[in-house]
Amino acid sequence: MPDPVGVAVVGCGTISHEYLRNLTSFADLRVLLCADLDTTRAKAQAARYGVPEAGDTAAALAHPDVELVVNLTVPAAHAAVTRQALAAGKHVWTEKPLATDSATGQQLLAGAARAGLRIGCAPDTTLGAGLQTARRLVQAGAIGVPQTGLALLQDPGPDRWHTDPEFLFQPGAGPLFDMGPYYLAALATLFGPAEQVAALGRRGRDQRVIRRGPRAGTAFGVSVPTHISALVSYAQGPAATLVLSFDSPLRRHGFLEITGTEATLALPDPNRFDGETRIRPAGSDGWTSIPAAGATAGRGLGVLDLARAVRAGVPHHAPGELALHVLETMEAITRSAGAGAFEPVRTTFTIPDLLAADWDPQASTMLEAM
Ligand SMILES: NC(=O)c1ccc[n+]([C@@H]2O[C@H](COP(=O)([O-])OP(=O)(O)OC[C@H]3O[C@@H](n4cnc5c(N)ncnc54)[C@H](O)[C@@H]3O)[C@@H](O)[C@H]2O)c1
Repeated sequence: MPDPVGVAVVGCGTISHEYLRNLTSFADLRVLLCADLDTTRAKAQAARYGVPEAGDTAAALAHPDVELVVNLTVPAAHAAVTRQALAAGKHVWTEKPLATDSATGQQLLAGAARAGLRIGCAPDTTLGAGLQTARRLVQAGAIGVPQTGLALLQDPGPDRWHTDPEFLFQPGAGPLFDMGPYYLAALATLFGPAEQVAALGRRGRDQRVIRRGPRAGTAFGVSVPTHISALVSYAQGPAATLVLSFDSPLRRHGFLEITGTEATLALPDPNRFDGETRIRPAGSDGWTSIPAAGATAGRGLGVLDLARAVRAGVPHHAPGELALHVLETMEAITRSAGAGAFEPVRTTFTIPDLLAADWDPQASTMLEAM
């Protein structure tokens, strides 16, 4: 007789609002505790979203009813928090990237496997109606044999809007590690594992200035490339080109197209859960729009899917193995940008199954079973 899964959120910053709004609305989850290094933040978020307890990470890990830790800390802290949660016997959902390097990511997955625990990792936009609809079309043969992908993310940079943007310009972030996971994970669920990459990297400015919030005007250093042009070769044959930039005065988000032998598919923004897919058959001079079918609730769908999968004893759909592969791909892109040579990608994963088009986040699958 399964109960809803007890959850603790660790890291109560910017993105915790979207997560907490959604996680507290899902009947199959019980958010029991908010935690942060800054316990004032944790208390404020707990009060705002009706979460009964707040404290530090140790309190989250000691809570006997917490089965799943949702790690929303900054990238540099992801691995340490995930490791501690696994050691405490908790399943983990972590924001991207899984870790700042793939060797650490690999250790986390091995540790979870040894302990019989699960790791799920953002992005969970791959579970959203938009990308699921596009994948259903590709699986049904709508574009023929997939051949190429083109992804563009151009932005002046998150120093424009984030109140604490330093981490977004340090190892573990930059446009590649911060935004790349959306595009690379979407392509991976369509094309399968990558096998080699090549890239160029540039750093437009050595210093940035915070524009918003109480620290506006503060300058900080940039230690990662802020413009990446990458080529990715996939083991099943397709090739993709990606531009990921925080050095662009022009803001162009969410451009993702794939071609096949029979048609071109324009996918919705892979950083969103909704959005139509457009298809243009070879020889046609116009696009046909296909509305998205599936879940659009937003960040937290992956946590819910992981919790339901734990209860049901079935695979979850945004697994650590996919995140590790995306992480290793980003690492290889960084190496290639430094070395000027093609770099191999060695990890692999199995493409997660599609969700049912009527997969309902609001359903009480656990309570119904009682
Ligand atoms: N901001 C966004 O729009 C956005 C969108 C999608 C994903 N993300 C991802 O979410 C994660 C968090 O981003 P954010 O923008 O919310 O950052 P943030 O800086 O606003 O918040 C991070 C929070 O984590 C806490 N924290 C840091 N280290 C900790 C530790 N060791 N233990 C406990 N708490 C700790 C900080 O005190 C802070 O409150 C990042 O991985 C980011 O890539 C952010």
